[in-house]
Amino acid sequence: MNRTVILGTGAAVPNKVLTNKDLETIVDTSDEWISTRTGIKSRYIAEDGETTSTLATEAARRSLDMAGVRPAEVDMIIVGTTSPDMVMPNTGALVQKHLGASNAFAFDVYAACSGFVYALTIADKFVKENPEKKILAIGSELLSSITDWQDRNTCVLFGDAAGAALVSGSNDGERGILSTHLHSDGCLWELLYIPGGGCVYPPSAEMAEKRDYCIRMHGNEVYKHAVRSLTEVAQEALLANQLDPEDVDLFIPHQANIRIMTKVAERLKISPDRVYMNIERYGNTSSASIPVALDEANRSGRLKPGDLVLLDAFGGGFTWGAVMIRW
Ligand code: COA
Repeated sequence: MNRTVILGTGAAVPNKVLTNKDLETIVDTSDEWISTRTGIKSRYIAEDGETTSTLATEAARRSLDMAGVRPAEVDMIIVGTTSPDMVMPNTGALVQKHLGASNAFAFDVYAACSGFVYALTIADKFVKENPEKKILAIGSELLSSITDWQDRNTCVLFGDAAGAALVSGSNDGERGILSTHLHSDGCLWELLYIPGGGCVYPPSAEMAEKRDYCIRMHGNEVYKHAVRSLTEVAQEALLANQLDPEDVDLFIPHQANIRIMTKVAERLKISPDRVYMNIERYGNTSSASIPVALDEANRSGRLKPGDLVLLDAFGGGFTWGAVMIRW
């Protein structure tokens, strides 16, 4: 049966590490508060020259190297991001340029922290039509560029990173993407958003002064919706494949908060040893969080052929979604 398989994965982070102790010197917070409320200990923060497209390119290059595929063989590049290098061109086009992927077409998906799951879903649909196509699905963010470093409610949460997966078609038994599930609810946009920078509230001196190009969030409300939506869409994916929670070998939820991940796994009845968590070292990297975790699990040998992997994302919009994969 023809399915979309992941031929290679890759990840990239900036050089600089910002610890909770470092944050204590920036805002009124403490390592203790951040660790116990979120599970985060440190995060990577970009410096000069590191951008969403350069991180995405590095992650993509690593996924191509793993797969033994040349940039010129890539047919399509999809980048999930909320922090593009520029409004135009799209980040995918810049990745195409940096990689030298001269035969690919490229575009971005704007679905906040669900960006990678959306990108992978679109890639899956294209591969189903053209199994020989090779597609890069990427999640890449420089959230540090849209973080209000004076707002302790949000600045302790986020980090910069990129992750990529190279996919194509295969007839290798049961291997590959089994199902994809996407949802949105635009009625809830005001719980997690960036007020300025678009046509409603264009860039201005006033906007910059109020730091209205930065992320604003009602943390408690987001928390409740995240737990509910992540649980429901994971259950939907299990039901669609007639699988039970104990069939899942590795559950990779969006790394937003250790308490959210723990609660969702409890509700799903997936045991903690089968939940992948690396938020301690990265913080919330939005669309990059799932592909970075997938790459870590892949490179560390945690994933074995035939394993059942469940990706589960939630983000601003709201957007949420799940992908069930037979590794
Ligand atoms: N350091 C110290 N104190 C802080 C703080 C910080 N960085 N941020 C907030 N506080 C304070 C608050 O001011 C509040 O003080 P008060 O009780 O005196 O008013 C107290 O800590 C509790 O704040 P609260 O917002 O209720 O904490 P919480 O337990 O809900 O945790 C979040 C806050 C943001 C960690 C949590 O709500 C969360 O993770 N939400 C989801 C966020 C998310 O996942 N976003 C992205 C989705 S993709």
